[in-house]
Amino acid sequence: MESKRIAAEKAVEFIKDGMIVGLGTGSTAYWAIQKIGQRVKEGLSVKAIATSNQSEDLARELGISLLSTAEIETIDITIDGADEVDADWNLIKGGGGALLREKIVAASSKQLIIIVDESKLVKQLGHFPLPVEIVRFGYEITVNKLRKLGAEPTLRKIGEQPYLTDNGNYIADCHFGKIDRPDELHHALNLIPGVVDNGLFIGMATHVIAGYQDGTVKEQLR
Ligand code: A5P
Repeated sequence: MESKRIAAEKAVEFIKDGMIVGLGTGSTAYWAIQKIGQRVKEGLSVKAIATSNQSEDLARELGISLLSTAEIETIDITIDGADEVDADWNLIKGGGGALLREKIVAASSKQLIIIVDESKLVKQLGHFPLPVEIVRFGYEITVNKLRKLGAEPTLRKIGEQPYLTDNGNYIADCHFGKIDRPDELHHALNLIPGVVDNGLFIGMATHVIAGYQDGTVKEQLR
């Protein structure tokens, strides 16, 4: 928890007055939103867009001004977590189920600062199962197509019920083993009808900040 917090707080130093800020989702982004809330109370003037209902509720509680997507063309900085980060800064995201909104916001951001604890830094992606957001209609067919692509998919559930994203879709968590060509897999997945998007974020991160158990924070270099 401490290593997540220190990475998050370092990232918040990049935020300046007047910026539009994308708020990520998850237990690391939580600390970034808390810190932004603190800086807003101290006089920082920013407007934000959230990547999940959870982060939006937190931002509102902390008094961070929120914008709707209709009011935004570009976002100055988005700060978000990740489940895995490889040496080329390709990411697996979506462990918290927010990958689609996270990708929409990231794709409109001038800077995407990824905040992680050291356990998320990997040589190659694929140990963490890749979350794939799929529509409910015909999901069994879509899951079969994911299997044909080489995945071992599991429909994410809460108890007996399928987990629902903020967009009302399902998530299939897909074990591919080591992912050799993340960019090819990304395209192949998104060509399957019924797949809305997947948790591979290729070439999107502009900074990676990692917190270490010894209390240090390092900006990762490629
Ligand atoms: C949310 O859907 C995810 O993409 C998170 O950003 C990712 O799962 C990292 O979450 P933690 O910071 O909670 O590990």
